[in-house]
Amino acid sequence: MSLTLKPRTTARAKISAVGTYVPPRLLTNADLEKLVATNDEWITERTGIRERHIVDKGVATSDLAVEAARICLANAGVDAKDVEAIILATVTPDMLFPATACIVQDKLGATGAWGFDLSAACSGFPYALQVGAKFIESGAHKKVLVIGSDVMSSIIDYTDRTTCILFGDGAGAVLLEPCEEGEIGLIDYLHEIDGSGAAALNMPAGGSRLPASHATVDARQHFVHQDGGAVYKTAVRKMAELAEIVLQRNDVKGEELGCFIPHQANKRIIMSTAERLGMAEDRVIINIDRYGNTTAGTIPLAMNTAMQENRIKKGDLVLLASFGGGYTVASTLLRWEI
Ligand code: UT7
Repeated sequence: MSLTLKPRTTARAKISAVGTYVPPRLLTNADLEKLVATNDEWITERTGIRERHIVDKGVATSDLAVEAARICLANAGVDAKDVEAIILATVTPDMLFPATACIVQDKLGATGAWGFDLSAACSGFPYALQVGAKFIESGAHKKVLVIGSDVMSSIIDYTDRTTCILFGDGAGAVLLEPCEEGEIGLIDYLHEIDGSGAAALNMPAGGSRLPASHATVDARQHFVHQDGGAVYKTAVRKMAELAEIVLQRNDVKGEELGCFIPHQANKRIIMSTAERLGMAEDRVIINIDRYGNTTAGTIPLAMNTAMQENRIKKGDLVLLASFGGGYTVASTLLRWEI
């Protein structure tokens, strides 16, 4: 037997294009006032959210993901057939299996791609970004589509005022490609999971622990359950802690960042993290007012906001940060190359 080993290459990975999609229908704070005992002032002051986009009945996570991916590929000038892998972060897959990545691959006509779903709640996008980057860095692939897509409205209890005001539906996709000469792309990351936080934020039923039954439906266990205060306190501490480590070990100061693109769960969490990092408010990308918390969609949606508002440019150092169910925490340092 003669074994032919492929030559090993190493490359740096960069984000070469972004595409996002939110469904057209709006759910405003005024709409929520008609559903639960809440008011615009409370929601705006405590969270920063004014409105979110919600799908029409029958629209699924793959539908949003495909729209975002098509825009991303068009922006990159890349044919879907040339995509080699699709990594889709979500907690609201179209169904438990097959993976939503498979459904997206088929709808996109990405006939040369393999892929899979990744479950890390609000840190899903940065986790998928690092997994995708490893395929580029190892030389295994040259075009990896990373998508964060969630239809949170499918798992939200619109009789629970503590959660229904927070979430929206949306998707974002980025293309990862090897850096060109002179580019740097993704620089460093730090991730942490802490399963002791599982009880504070979860959807109890529908998995192997509590399969769907009349009893689980009656007990409203197919919805998001959250101990908001516990999650808030840990989010404020952990997002800043991991971000500080990543900045320090790369010798980057908060004020040297072109922009800070955080997960959008609560404007107060974002601002307290930014303050600890010494970031001026005008460098912090916030669009939670328009979209709410779209879980895996927030960071690419915020990247798009930064681009639309001309608040990010090629060569900028950018910090991503997230905290979410799991608990999952992520901090990513990169140089923007678009
Ligand atoms: O992305 C995934 C990770 N998730 C997060 O990062 C979310 C983290 N948590 C939060 O963002 C905040 O904890 C919430 C926005 C969920 C809640 O804000 P809070 O300032 O922690 O409020 P609270 O839960 O301490 O509630 C304060 C009061 C309570 O009333 P009492 O007990 O003081 O009389 C609540 O019942 O506000 C009441 N309340 C509301 N009032 C009007 C709770 N929800 C509402 C509401 N409208 N929607």
